[in-house]
Amino acid sequence: MRRTTKALLLAAINLLAAAHGSANETDELVSLGKSKFELMCMACHKYEHGPNMLAPPAFAVQMHYENRYGEDEKAFRKAIVDWAKSPDPKKALMPGAIRKFKVMPPLPLPDADLDAIAAYLYHSNFEGECDPAEMERNRSAALQPASTLPDQN
Ligand code: HEC
Repeated sequence: MRRTTKALLLAAINLLAAAHGSANETDELVSLGKSKFELMCMACHKYEHGPNMLAPPAFAVQMHYENRYGEDEKAFRKAIVDWAKSPDPKKALMPGAIRKFKVMPPLPLPDADLDAIAAYLYHSNFEGECDPAEMERNRSAALQPASTLPDQN
């Protein structure tokens, strides 16, 4: 009994450490993406609605891609990368924004930069926005390790 308890404890600690490690990697990518976004995208995509907007705000872009791709982070990120390299009105998720602002000019940055930006757009919960989909995603991410617990008995 004691032994089992100890083994379970060790498993839990390992799990926490692993979860912490991967969370840090994501955090790093997301914060890199945030700075790239502010450098490359924010000239047009602001955080808020406002006067003289040149493009839809970041949270609106996130919302449309989230509605389409849900929790499929890989597909979400790929769609953003592909779009930025060559915006194709036929693939647009925001046709109303094209009518309002005209189609976005291509921004052929290195894939790695665009992917970091896309990771930021996926993970950010754009402060002040109450975003139920994001909350659900965080909740299921937090619950995930339980099912991957190695069987110690
Ligand atoms: C020169 C202004 C400008 C810059 C800079 C810009 N965008 Fe855009 N973007 C737009 C406009 C205008 C739209 C809305 C019309 C459209 O969808 O093409 C848009 C729309 C988008 C969309 C939604 C496309 C759709 O309809 O599915 C994504 C995704 C996007 N931008 C990503 C980015 C990323 C990532 C960057 C930075 C690497 C960026 N944009 C930089 C002008 C810009």
